[in-house]
Order: sequence, then structure tokens, then C-alpha cells
Amino acid sequence: MHSTLPVIVGISGASGSVMARATVERLLALDVPVIVTASAAARLVWRDEMDESFGAALERWTDSGPFTYHPVGELNAPIASGTFGVRGMAVTPCSMATAAAIAGGMADNLLRRAADVCLKEKRPLIVVPRETPLNAVHLDNLAALARLGATVLPPHPPFYLKPATLEETVSFTVERTLVALGISDRMPDHMTYRGPYDAD
Ligand SMILES: Cc1cc2nc3c(=O)[nH]c(=O)nc-3n(C[C@H](O)[C@H](O)[C@H](O)COP(=O)(O)O)c2cc1C
Repeated sequence: MHSTLPVIVGISGASGSVMARATVERLLALDVPVIVTASAAARLVWRDEMDESFGAALERWTDSGPFTYHPVGELNAPIASGTFGVRGMAVTPCSMATAAAIAGGMADNLLRRAADVCLKEKRPLIVVPRETPLNAVHLDNLAALARLGATVLPPHPPFYLKPATLEETVSFTVERTLVALGISDRMPDHMTYRGPYDAD
């Protein structure tokens, strides 16, 4: 029943644009409809961190599957309403400003409003926070999000799997996000910890 519903990917202005790109592309590869909105700061960070413009990425995504983009000022987009069905939302990367806004119910742009809607409709909301170190305000806001039912999913490397590249860590975070959204029922085999039992 859920299979045709879209997933929202909200891209905010924390470091880690590559996580947004990998999340969108993995969902599209699975033929899951994706709706993207991105803050102004997200586009600034993207320019710093990526070797492809955000506009070029949007064009590529539009050509590669069921994809929709809404500017963050478009507060009358369907995802601003709880009546529009979505499977859930991932905010990746999630800045501390966006975490604070969502935790405080400040739905003053489309990304924040869509996240607020997911919380009120009890739909999966996954936030992938990126900041270090974290001060007490950051921690309080993330704790508030967790209490509201969001999944707070820091993009930490799976040290126990000995990732050799940034792509492996990003891909791990993306797969964790898909499980949290209910798109996948478990992590891929090669990303599953099995203790010492498979060792030679
Ligand atoms: C290159 C760059 C990297 C940034 N990295 C982070 C970060 O990792 N975490 C964070 O919370 N804010 C970071 N910021 C600051 C946010 O972009 C800023 O707080 C902005 O207001 C967030 O707005 P938004 O939440 O609407 O995207 C960064 C800014 C720039 C320009």
C-alpha cells in the first residue's frame, strides 16, 4: 500500500551534501518517488563540497526517475499539507539551525514545514545531524526530536566494518536511513555486523 508513496529528502545547510546526493540516488535507483527541497544554505554548502552544480544534479535526477523538486520558499507545495501522502522524510544533512527549527515547531520554510507535517502525522522523520562538537542546545534539540518520534541518525562511520572510503561511510548512512524510513527491512549483508563468527 505504501509502495508508490514518495519520500521527501530535505537538504539543509550542514556539511555533507554528498549524503543528500547519495540518498536521492539510492531511492531513485529503487524506483521510489523522491521529492526534494533544499535550503538556501544547502545550496551554498553544495557549491563548496560538490563537483557538480546543484542545478545539474536536479536535471540528472529529473531524468533518472520519479523526481520532483520544490524551492524551499514554495510553502504552497503539496508536501506542506498533511493531506498529501508521503512515506516519510529524511533531512540529510541536518544543520543545527534546521534541527532547532523542527524541534521548536518553527515551520517557516518548506523543508521545516514538511518535517513538522511528518511529526504531526506520525510519519517517519529521519534527521541526519552534522555538527561537531555538539553544544547543549544542539543536544537538547536533538533529544526533543527523538522524543517527538523522529529518528536521529548521526552519519558516523561504522568503525567495526572498517570502512576504507568516504563512499562506504556515506552508503552505510544511506542504507540506515532507508531502514529507518521502512523502505528496506534490513541492512545489506556486507553492512551487517556478525561478530567474530564468520572469521577464518
Ligand atoms: C560550508 C559550510 C558548512 C557548514 N557546515 C555546517 C554543519 O556541518 N553543521 C551545521 O549545523 N551548520 C553548518 N553550517 C552553517 C549553516 O549553513 C547555517 O547555520 C545555516 O543558517 C543553516 O540554515 P538551514 O538550516 O536553513 O540550512 C555550514 C555553513 C557553511 C557555509
